[in-house]
Amino acid sequence: MNLKNLFRVLLALTFIALLSSCQDDDYAPLSTNETTSEEFSERKRTCLSHDHTQHLMQDPAYRAKKQKMMEAFEKINLERRNFKAQCASPVLVPVAVHYQGVNNPDAACLRQLAINQINILNDDYAGTNSDINKWTGQAASAFPGVSNGEACLKFVIADQNHPSGYGLNNGDLAVTVNRTQGDQDNKWAGYVNIYVQFNTGLLGYAPLGGLGNGDGVVIDASAFGSGQGCGTIAPQAPFNLGRTLTHEMGHYLLLDHIWGDGCGVDDEVSDTPDQAQDNSGCPGLNTSSCGSTDMHMNYMDYTNDACMYMFSAGQASRMTNYVTASLASLTGNVSNVYSGSGSTGGNNTDGGNTDSGNTGGDESSDDDNTDSSDTDTGDTDTGDTDTGDTDSDETDNDDTNTDEIACFSPSNSTVEIINPSKVRIDWADGSDAIRYQVRYRIEGNGPWTKKGAANSHKNLNNLSADIYQYQIRTRCVDGWQSWSAQQTFNLSVDYSGDDAGSEVGSGSVDIQVTLDDYGSETSWELYDASNSLIASGGPYEDGKAGQIESTLVDLPDGCYEIDLLDAYGDGMCCDYGNGGLEVLDADGQSLVTFDGNFGTYELVQFCVENGQARITKRERDNKKLSRGKKK
Ligand code: ARG
Ligand code: CA
Ligand code: ZN
Repeated sequence: MNLKNLFRVLLALTFIALLSSCQDDDYAPLSTNETTSEEFSERKRTCLSHDHTQHLMQDPAYRAKKQKMMEAFEKINLERRNFKAQCASPVLVPVAVHYQGVNNPDAACLRQLAINQINILNDDYAGTNSDINKWTGQAASAFPGVSNGEACLKFVIADQNHPSGYGLNNGDLAVTVNRTQGDQDNKWAGYVNIYVQFNTGLLGYAPLGGLGNGDGVVIDASAFGSGQGCGTIAPQAPFNLGRTLTHEMGHYLLLDHIWGDGCGVDDEVSDTPDQAQDNSGCPGLNTSSCGSTDMHMNYMDYTNDACMYMFSAGQASRMTNYVTASLASLTGNVSNVYSGSGSTGGNNTDGGNTDSGNTGGDESSDDDNTDSSDTDTGDTDTGDTDTGDTDSDETDNDDTNTDEIACFSPSNSTVEIINPSKVRIDWADGSDAIRYQVRYRIEGNGPWTKKGAANSHKNLNNLSADIYQYQIRTRCVDGWQSWSAQQTFNLSVDYSGDDAGSEVGSGSVDIQVTLDDYGSETSWELYDASNSLIASGGPYEDGKAGQIESTLVDLPDGCYEIDLLDAYGDGMCCDYGNGGLEVLDADGQSLVTFDGNFGTYELVQFCVENGQARITKRERDNKKLSRGKKK
């Protein structure tokens, strides 16, 4: 068995172990076509979601908040379970769209694309999508007693009183470009944020039941809006009709997938049929499982955009109820951030909720969102805000928007000597920091070496001198702050008498695992050239982020493979600590480094010759979802 196959078996065993730890014993068997490689990875639901929730629930603040929101929701949902939306005045939900990592952004086009996407969203939620007739005219007859839903909600792009620091003026649409990072921005609390990112490895993801606290949904740049898009942000068939947002917004508003968790496990919506698992592509109407017809045309399945076209009435009222009961943070903010709110809220909707005043006025073709040749984004941007002054990120050095931002370079830091050539620097976290840089040099006037850091610490490796100088700076939305005051550390002085270093015998290496807070998910295996396991470590303890676990291994010249595994699938960095693994030689020189940024595994094959490691192969899978999110 070659290394790769061996590794596949190991992975499969890990996976089976995960499955069998699920609580539902009627777990649906995996079908053979489940991992066709042209699909986005991780298409199938696994029991990971149980773990997600369990992990999140360990956080008391999260638990308390979620519980309060769920109680409010359950009450209203029960009272109004037979309530049929009367949508003369829909509940307005303010949204903001944040594009991230766009090269050469065309701000006007991106605004137009955001408008196009929100119009699709509103049509889908109101049941006014142009392809709803596929349901009413045909599919509905396979689901007696089920009506399609008309959620009494209308999503509006905010247009006033924007948070400062994003280059937005009153009257501009809340569309930012290259101003945010990740899937949470606390300054945008009170909005459903739509974060458009590149290379998510999925079409999108969202929390199950959003909080309105700066959270939101993530949509891949290949699945945002319809039409030809804007340069690199271009919708790709068959996910080019804007329905990824429809789906993810469903999660944000507490809808589970249509298949729940397999036969007999409900999605908690009474009018959706029991379903074994997700469907993809464009299945025939007669597809069935668990003894009933699959509702694969539902937005909460995994079918192609053109083949999903309805929510059920039960889903629609569940979402509306969640907004009313639990998302006052959004509904209470709309009159502040949306000029079209009026005193009653929603009186600007021209009787329907398909075309929002501020967002759609210049775009009349928004209802044909199932037509992939729709090209409304490039040529009709007669909107009111395309003056080009708002979004280009090269204007982000300190303008007038620095008020309210707590952003400063750290004044305090500590240095921990890990071994004679490696230190770890920790500093206090500036609250609005997006990221940091550390620069260091051998004491004197030589050139600096700069390193980026996502969190408030950094390891510096391969240090060869005794005394180093270093500085740290912080980046916030307004740009880099000035460097902190110079500090120094002295490896020779600080190291002597310190027993932290692991003296390894000659011919040996030290395998150092830096834990994150979920050490119980971490393990590693070291194989020699004939595929024999020669060392392994883990799983470790939880709650020990930053702790280093050291294992000394004899490693004569030859070729090896080391596999770093994460049983949960979210790697070891960087949401719960900056975990990783390093192989150090007897002098503390780093031979192989894993930065912890992977999903379930990362492997490195390398050969040791003359005390040096030559890496011959590195392979890792995509970083997976963070905890509590649904794709
Ligand atoms: N989170 C899901 C995924 O990434 C989104 C599915 C959206 N489906 C669609 N037809 N747009 O797979
Ligand atoms: Ca993990
Ligand atoms: Zn989903």
